Amino acid sequence: MSYSNKKTNWLNRYPAISDLARKAKSRIPKVSWEYLESGTGDEDLLDRNAQAFKKINFLPRFCKGDLQADCSTTLFGRKYDAPIGVAPVGLTGLMWPKVEEYLAASCARFNIPFCLSTLATSTPEIVGPQCGDMGWFQLYPPKDQDILDSLLRRAKDSGFHTLVITADIPMPSLRERTKRAGMSMPPKITPRMIWEGATHPAWSIATLRNGIPSLKTVEHYTNNNDMKFVSGFVGNRLGGTLSWEYCQEIKQKWDGPVIIKGILHPQDARQAIDAGMDGIWVSNHGARQFNGAATAIEALPAIVETVNAAGGGTIIFDSGVRNGLDIMRALHLGADFVFAGRPFFYGVAALGKLGGDHAAHIFIDDLKNNMVQLGAANLAEVREANLL
Ligand code: FNR
Repeated sequence: MSYSNKKTNWLNRYPAISDLARKAKSRIPKVSWEYLESGTGDEDLLDRNAQAFKKINFLPRFCKGDLQADCSTTLFGRKYDAPIGVAPVGLTGLMWPKVEEYLAASCARFNIPFCLSTLATSTPEIVGPQCGDMGWFQLYPPKDQDILDSLLRRAKDSGFHTLVITADIPMPSLRERTKRAGMSMPPKITPRMIWEGATHPAWSIATLRNGIPSLKTVEHYTNNNDMKFVSGFVGNRLGGTLSWEYCQEIKQKWDGPVIIKGILHPQDARQAIDAGMDGIWVSNHGARQFNGAATAIEALPAIVETVNAAGGGTIIFDSGVRNGLDIMRALHLGADFVFAGRPFFYGVAALGKLGGDHAAHIFIDDLKNNMVQLGAANLAEVREANLL
């Protein structure tokens, strides 16, 4: 069964990302939902991420004849059919087994990028072949040079061409909501878990078939697949030590574009350029790390200004993007490309294997519709449009 057979029915039943979110919530256990959805602290930033987009509004232009929107774009020499991709997400199988394989295949069909997390529950070797030419790999920087070299080699050998270094996890955040939902590492079998499993049968059957999710890419380095051991390993060996010197080293090791993700301060953007980064990914990690951070969309203009003053560079954007209009707003403010995290996972959790196709279709169709409403035939015209 292909997406085209499902499209009309799904468009009527789930016309927006919010419809996929609602359906996803009913199909997965509470702990999975809370893990996917949560911010940190009182989660004020989740709300601010959403509200900040609504302040950016346009003055549309009309009488342009038969306007067809073309939202294709070229990034680092590669053509993509739309400026939207799947952001890296860890512990993926908790949301739905094989979700990274399903989303990678959706991205290959839609010719949009799929970024695999170091902390995914599948490996670059399995997901790479599903991505076609659309694979990006996200690195939580390991302290151990041998592990760094191995991760880079595995990603490259599996076909991932663009590397993303995540900078915005100096230490894990508290995410109180996931604790309240009973999340633990390793997952414990409690009466609550059994009840959750019984009341979400599709998720439970798929999980039984595929096994309890584990961090497969990093398990490789532990000689021990015990989840507690692996999470300890992640805490001790990955992240927490990132410096500009380390970024420079990675840049020398990786034959291809390197992007630094999680930048909000213009001076960090400037330092990233000086460290040889090819791209700057403006993000507050989907409000999951620092509840007191600025929204990414409000931080974007100053970063664009700094990057342009330094001679230019590629700017990627995420955090809170929920429709095509949000993509258009970020592009107008100077992003070259936009990613979304949760929305694509809602898609698979709600609709299964082809749910990522539907999420991609919703984003792209809404972007094109909004471009025509604005009077923009292509992304250059989106950037030239006028705000209120
Ligand atoms: C993330 N994010 C993330 N980022 C990253 O670099 N590596 C990772 O492993 C993860 N893991 C992760 C798990 C979950 C459940 C979420 C929701 C997010 C952040 C992600 O790449 C992206 O920055 C945000 O998801 C963007 O915000 P939205 O689109 O979810 O609002």
